Amino acid sequence: MKLWAGRFQKETNDVVNDFNSSIQFDGRLYREDITGSIAHATMLGKQGIIEEHEAEKIVENLKEILKDIEESDLDVFDPEYEDIHMNVEVMLTNRIGATGKRLHTARSRNDQVALDMRMYVKKELCEIMDLAIEFEKALVTKAKENLDTVMPGYTHLQRAQPTTFGHYMMAYAQMLKRDISRLEDCFERMDEMPLGSGALATSTYPVDRDFVREQLGFARITDNSLDGVSDRDYCLELMSDLSIMMMHLSRLSEEVISWCSWEWRFAELDDAYSTGSSIMPQKKNPDVCELIRGKTGRVYGDLMGLLTTMKALPLAYNKDMQEDKEAVFDAIDTVKQCLEVFTPMFLTMTLRKKNMRKAASQGFINATDCADYLVKKGVPFRDAYMIVGRLVNNCLRSGDTLETMTLRDFAAISKDFGPDVYEALDLTNCVNERKVPGGPAPKEVSRQISRIEDFIEDAEEQLERMRGELRT
Ligand code: ARG
Repeated sequence: MKLWAGRFQKETNDVVNDFNSSIQFDGRLYREDITGSIAHATMLGKQGIIEEHEAEKIVENLKEILKDIEESDLDVFDPEYEDIHMNVEVMLTNRIGATGKRLHTARSRNDQVALDMRMYVKKELCEIMDLAIEFEKALVTKAKENLDTVMPGYTHLQRAQPTTFGHYMMAYAQMLKRDISRLEDCFERMDEMPLGSGALATSTYPVDRDFVREQLGFARITDNSLDGVSDRDYCLELMSDLSIMMMHLSRLSEEVISWCSWEWRFAELDDAYSTGSSIMPQKKNPDVCELIRGKTGRVYGDLMGLLTTMKALPLAYNKDMQEDKEAVFDAIDTVKQCLEVFTPMFLTMTLRKKNMRKAASQGFINATDCADYLVKKGVPFRDAYMIVGRLVNNCLRSGDTLETMTLRDFAAISKDFGPDVYEALDLTNCVNERKVPGGPAPKEVSRQISRIEDFIEDAEEQLERMRGELRT
């Protein structure tokens, strides 16, 4: 029998029952739901809203239910009871009868689900932050190993100027740094406890919201009950943050796919992180990277879905909001899966440094340096640029590179060239001379690395503090 049977004269239609029910996917909130109920029951007892001994009995049995669920599997839930909140309540009343029926005093499923989701999102956000920090460390490891691994830098995917793989890695480290700090911000902003909001307008009982807040490790209580039950901004914010992080992972995946192609041959993935073809015996495919690139669309979809669900909802709770769960769970699960596989795949990837350097020496990547050489001899930059353009044109016709031109060839175009031009064209020198803050010179990249290492240390401390707050 439904909990609301009193008001109704008919049973719920079976199709409606299935349609309405969320237990298939919100069953995973059982820990949050029970932990929240324990705090609520304790508060009810302390405030004299129910008898102390009743509160104790409720708490004791909720703990046993938690243990039983954990020792069995999630199939213990009954779709007849719609969602995790009703399932737990029914389990409790089945065990202790009338006393169990007192648990829902001064509470609605609206503030209950708002609480459960926040607790769940806080916990999962910490897991993701942990994985993101691990990935950040992997980028630092790769950077340190490749401070002087020269490679071409690109614009428009055309070889542009020389850089190093270390410099490249630290660019991604900056993106991840922002991703991690966005997660910290999201956690801080959502750290508000909604229970006590009731269905929408609180209740007339002398509830102690601050006590419940403290029990559940939140920083603050939500300050308006209508908002408390209908706010899903924290879900959207997390999914926005995750979408941006996936965009970064996808960009790097795309690069790895290119680096592993026969056209580039800059890198090779470990066999354990590659896949073969069912028909072409020679193939070694970067499926992991492609899946991450593909799943990025899926996470964006989760975000767009919930944004659209929320966009016209009047205050306060509407059942539409039940749609938040599958989107949020899917985004969280997907991002965790991607980070878990990407980091070890990336760490075990080997670089073909010779090919990288060869590519860097073939695309006139030091043409800017050649022009800068003339500028240092007093030639205005625009003139130097034109001169080097002519040199490149000559090279393209003769099949030369700048380095293979003779001094005579150089002198024929400009008398300002001297024998020291070859030093200016040397790729290692080109990189080492770019020591401006932010640049690829190994010393400068080492400075960037140490700043990221400081960031990682702070983020780890922050994460420990955040985890200290969790109660599930
Ligand atoms: N399963 C519901 C959800 O996820 C719980 C809240 C239901 N509240 C209600 N008034 N029907 O949103």
